[in-house]
Amino acid sequence: MIRAVYPGSFDPITNGHIYIAERGAALFDELVVAVLVNPEKRSTFSEEERQIMAREALVHLPNVKVKFFEGLLVDFMRQEQSRIIIRGLRALSDFEYEFQLAQMNRQLAPEIETFFVVTDAKYSYLSSRGIKDAFQFGGAIKDMVPPGVFRRMRERIPPRNV
Ligand code: PNS
Repeated sequence: MIRAVYPGSFDPITNGHIYIAERGAALFDELVVAVLVNPEKRSTFSEEERQIMAREALVHLPNVKVKFFEGLLVDFMRQEQSRIIIRGLRALSDFEYEFQLAQMNRQLAPEIETFFVVTDAKYSYLSSRGIKDAFQFGGAIKDMVPPGVFRRMRERIPPRNV
């Protein structure tokens, strides 16, 4: 039984994240989608909301579980008894950051491997940050996120009058 972990901020989960989770779930027996704290980012949605949105969006994948962890990713990996980290790549510009993250995790826990899954071209421009920015200014983002996320964004993020 091979369990992989797909970590991220998921603030909120997007259709691009769902695509990576689907690919990961098809490759491994179990996939844990780990909602983690990225110290570089101030989150819009609470840990609870991020988990609920991810669970709703991934309900069609029976071998996927969503969990929250505050701390080092490698500690979570050990807790979950998993040695495979999955991260999505959208473009070359992602690679620099992802390479650093993977190297840091390699130093912290040499037994853990990072696997990169290339996104579908139709999601290559999607990011949680971009979606939130566009939404604030009235952009049509309905097709970029699952319905539960769109609903919560309408409740939580007030449109700006510019
Ligand atoms: O979706 P994101 O924000 O790109 O995900 C980044 C994340 C949450 C995976 C990364 O910040 C992380 O692993 N945070 C947990 C703390 C940690 O382990 N840091 C050391 C590796 S740099």
